[in-house]
Amino acid sequence: MAESRPRVWVSQPLFDDVIGQLGQYFDLTTTVDVAAYSSAELSERLAPLDGALITLNERIGAREIAHAPRLRAIANVGVGYNNLDIAALSAAGIVATNTPDVLTETTADLGFTLLMAAARRISDAERWLREGQWGQWSFQNMLGADIHGATLGILGMGRIGQGIARRGAHGFGMRVLYHNRSQLPAQTEQALGAQYVDFDTLLAQADHLVLVLPYTQDSHHIIDAAALAKMKASATLVNIARGGIVDELALADALSNGRLAAAGLDVFEGEPAVRSELLALRNVVLTPHIGSASLATRRSMVQLAVDNLIAALGEGASAGHPPSAINADAITAAKAGGATVGATKTGATKR
Ligand code: DGY
Repeated sequence: MAESRPRVWVSQPLFDDVIGQLGQYFDLTTTVDVAAYSSAELSERLAPLDGALITLNERIGAREIAHAPRLRAIANVGVGYNNLDIAALSAAGIVATNTPDVLTETTADLGFTLLMAAARRISDAERWLREGQWGQWSFQNMLGADIHGATLGILGMGRIGQGIARRGAHGFGMRVLYHNRSQLPAQTEQALGAQYVDFDTLLAQADHLVLVLPYTQDSHHIIDAAALAKMKASATLVNIARGGIVDELALADALSNGRLAAAGLDVFEGEPAVRSELLALRNVVLTPHIGSASLATRRSMVQLAVDNLIAALGEGASAGHPPSAINADAITAAKAGGATVGATKTGATKR
């Protein structure tokens, strides 16, 4: 009797033509609506699967994979993967993948868009106009901060941070300072026009500070009341990384008390919920996690996730070598244990 094909599930509607490629290799279950799955629902969904293609909406750790003995691959559509417990997945021999590179420039564009919109008060000005408040043109109305020639601070200097730096230094003639876990090679710094500084110097000197660092235990609320107090009162803060990096109540307090001029936020700690304290403010530009949301880039992200899943499940031209595996060590361990990444695992080899 012919062996049944591996089963994969796609957690929300994502470009049918791209997702459809999975049907060439797998029994594919797609999803018609965007849903918020509970941990129990995810556990039930994952139980019969060999692989899943998911988004940041799905939080997957030990509990969610506990009853999924066949599960071998989780392809995350997104570069950030704080929704995945990588240690738990690795321990279970499950390959996790993400979608770096393809979204770098689009996300850097959005970072710069938010910076400019916040600094030049675009949301506030548009709202004011729509409210019919434009009686007379007034010279001193809606005065914002300059971007050209200002000091741009970047916290987190990975690919997206470097994209922001290039835009700032080469597009707007900005002085670019950055802080990162490690300093970039001098040649890279020179090409970007960026200078490494310590965290406090970054806070103190930036006219516009963009957060682009991964969300980890160490970066949780790294921008808190104390950090905000070190920033210029005239400064702009932009967060395109993850909401939990900023203490939002402290930020709302600083914005409403004149201790920070403006903010642009694309990510929120409790998203999709946004704190009423932020919603009430006019000097913050709020967008619903659209950093990578251009049509071309979102399609590329889904294509990369599909390629990852096909390869992680041992199919296609790159079988066993997903283009962007996060836990390559798990792949190596699986191979050392005698299984190829694409081979069907038994419960015994898995846990
Ligand atoms: C990412 O890729 O991490 C984005 O935040 C989700 O699109």
